[in-house]
Amino acid sequence: MQDAAARIAAELDGAGDASWFRAPGRVNLVGDHTDYNEGFVLPFAVDRACVVAGNRAERVRMRSLDLGGIVELEPDGSTDPAGVEPAWGRYVAAVVHELGRLGRPSVGVDAVVASDVPLGSGLSSSASLEVACAVALAHVARWDVDGRALAEACRAAEELATGVPCGIMDQLASVAGRADEALLIDCRSLEIRPVPLPDPLAVLVVHSGVRRSLDGTPYAERRRACERLAAKLGVRALRDADERQVAAEPLGRHVVSENRRVHEVADALADVDLARAGRLLLESHASLRDDFGVSTRELDVLVEELVAAGALGARLTGAGFGGCVVAICESAALDAVTATAIERYRSRTGLEPTAFPCRAVDGAGPLEAGSTTRR
Ligand code: GLA
Repeated sequence: MQDAAARIAAELDGAGDASWFRAPGRVNLVGDHTDYNEGFVLPFAVDRACVVAGNRAERVRMRSLDLGGIVELEPDGSTDPAGVEPAWGRYVAAVVHELGRLGRPSVGVDAVVASDVPLGSGLSSSASLEVACAVALAHVARWDVDGRALAEACRAAEELATGVPCGIMDQLASVAGRADEALLIDCRSLEIRPVPLPDPLAVLVVHSGVRRSLDGTPYAERRRACERLAAKLGVRALRDADERQVAAEPLGRHVVSENRRVHEVADALADVDLARAGRLLLESHASLRDDFGVSTRELDVLVEELVAAGALGARLTGAGFGGCVVAICESAALDAVTATAIERYRSRTGLEPTAFPCRAVDGAGPLEAGSTTRR
C-alpha cells in the first residue's frame, strides 16, 4: 500500500501550506487485558501511521482518502458523534468533543486524512486516527496540552465513539512512542519506562486474515468480569491481587501472571536473552487462550506455525478474537520465518495472512510538510 503521506501529497498536489501531523499505530509485545486492570503493558509505536494535513478553518471538516466521504462538525465539540456519517467521522467527532471538555479553544480545521495502519487488525488503527486528529486540532487552536492528557482524552473518545470501554494502552503508545524502544507503561500511574529493543531482535506482526472490531466482541464483558472479581477479592483492581488469591480464578490468573511477564520480558530484552523473551511470549499466548479465553483457532495456528518456522516466540496481540499475532525472531531469520509461516498458515486455514515487520518509532507529532518518509 502506498504510504499515507505520499497519498495525501498527491491529493493536495504538493504540500501546499497545510500543517501535517502523524500518529503511529502500535504493537503490544506483552501485557494484554492488563491496562484496564490498572496493570502493566509493553507496547511500541510502529512505523505505520495515520497522517492528517490541514489548515485552520471555521468548522471541522475532514476528508478520508481511505474510507471515503467528508465529515463536517462544530469546532466546539457539540456535534453528537452518534449521528455522524460516514461512521469513521464518529471518532473525529468524539475527539473534538473530548478535547473541548479539556479546554481546547473552539477552532476548526479543514483537513485530509489517510492511514497506513491496517484496519481492524490489532495495530490500533482507531487510536492512531484519534491521536492524529487530536494533535492537528491542538495545533490549529495553538493549544498546548500535556501528552498524557491528550492520550486520556483520545481513550475517552474511543469509548464515546464505539461504546467499548477500552484501556489507555493504544492511545498512550501512539502519543509516547520512542524510536528503537518499547514502553513499559504502568497503567495506574501512567509512568513510562523506555526499554531499548536489542539489535539482533526482529519483531513481526502477522494479521490472521480475520478482521474484527472490538464492538462486536466480548471485550466489555471481560472487563466487567475482571471488575467484579476485583470487588469479590476486596482489591481496588486485579493489579493488586496476588497469585495465591487468584489461583482458582482463570481471569485473575491471567491478569496477575501477565503483569509479571511484562516485567520479565523487559528484563530479558535488557539482558538480550531473546530465547527467554520468546518463551514468555508463548506463555502469554497460552494464558490468553486458556485462562482469558480471547484466542481463536486461527490465532493459535498462526502462533504454532511461526514457532515451527523458527520464531523464538509468538502471541496474539491486542484484544484478540481475531486480528494479529506478534512474533519475535533473530533479525537474520526474519525473511525465512515469515515466508514459511505464511505458506503453512495459508494451506492449513485457507485464509490470506499479511505480514508486517515492525520498527519502533517516535510517537505522534508534526510531520514535515509533504514528507513522504515514515519516521
Ligand atoms: C484493545 C484495547 C486496549 C487493551 C487491549 C488488550 O487494544 O483498546 O486498551 O485493553 O485491547 O490488551
